[in-house]
Amino acid sequence: MITVQKLLSWYDRHGRDLPWRKTRNPYHILVSEIMLQQTQVSRVLIFYSSWLKQFPDWKHLAQATNTEIIHAWSGLGYNKRGLMLRDIAREIVKKGTPQTRETWMTLKGIGPYTASALTAFSLHERVMPIDTNIRRVLGRFFFGLLFPDPKKDKQIQKKIKAWLPTHGRFYDVPQALFDLASSVCTKIPNCVSCPLRKECHAAQKFLSGNVRVPKNMIQKAKETHYRNKPYPDRIYRGRMLKCVRLHDPNGVDMKEIGLHIDPSFDRHLDTEWLKNMLERMIKNGLLKKKNNVITLG
Ligand code: ADE
Repeated sequence: MITVQKLLSWYDRHGRDLPWRKTRNPYHILVSEIMLQQTQVSRVLIFYSSWLKQFPDWKHLAQATNTEIIHAWSGLGYNKRGLMLRDIAREIVKKGTPQTRETWMTLKGIGPYTASALTAFSLHERVMPIDTNIRRVLGRFFFGLLFPDPKKDKQIQKKIKAWLPTHGRFYDVPQALFDLASSVCTKIPNCVSCPLRKECHAAQKFLSGNVRVPKNMIQKAKETHYRNKPYPDRIYRGRMLKCVRLHDPNGVDMKEIGLHIDPSFDRHLDTEWLKNMLERMIKNGLLKKKNNVITLG
């Protein structure tokens, strides 16, 4: 059996049954892809169907206010993504749904990966979206790289051109690769249960048992501190939004919000820090400030 067939037959037996794989509707696919950015599948599954119930299509989403979006996105994190999705819907209502990868790329917030995912899953074109997971599988498979980095993407794409079949279910190959990456070809992979191990250029190295995860991959994401608080300040931004959301529609007084998000908040030392964070959230449309009262954007 050729390798792609082995992969697809593994996928038929072990693939996950995910709702966004049963549709070619570009709106549904974009919702799933934006939600899946930096959020685990299990968490996205909780939000995906209720989002589609509340906003069934581009038109409904385009009409949503910032407040509605912030409430509906609540719990998914990285709240800017919800507003960005709504802004994309507004563009699409005006200009129509893109029919090519290039037109998807013209929309603010849609990068090469998301444009490729939409083209593969909605238009069923022979395109490979490469995210960290797919890069890990294919960088290992084609080049024997144990922990491939994005610099290899061009070479991976070249190999894929020859490797992806021209007929049949080529659009399922990325889906199969997502699942292989999450269950078999993990950071330290389980090559014994991999359908691609015979042809994989990294399998023998891993099977030798001598591979260690490099130190720079174990380290936490680059983080600095402001006083006792970690930066990026994502946690505090999340707390701030939650606090304002719970006090909606009255909002929260500027003087009180610091203590709501940090029990050790110090009015003298932390006000600049708080203001800076607020300004960014106001600029992103998540919050508003009027007469020193913070409300939802
Ligand atoms: N991550 C991004 N897109 C995905 C998909 N369709 N299935 C699983 N994980 C994904």
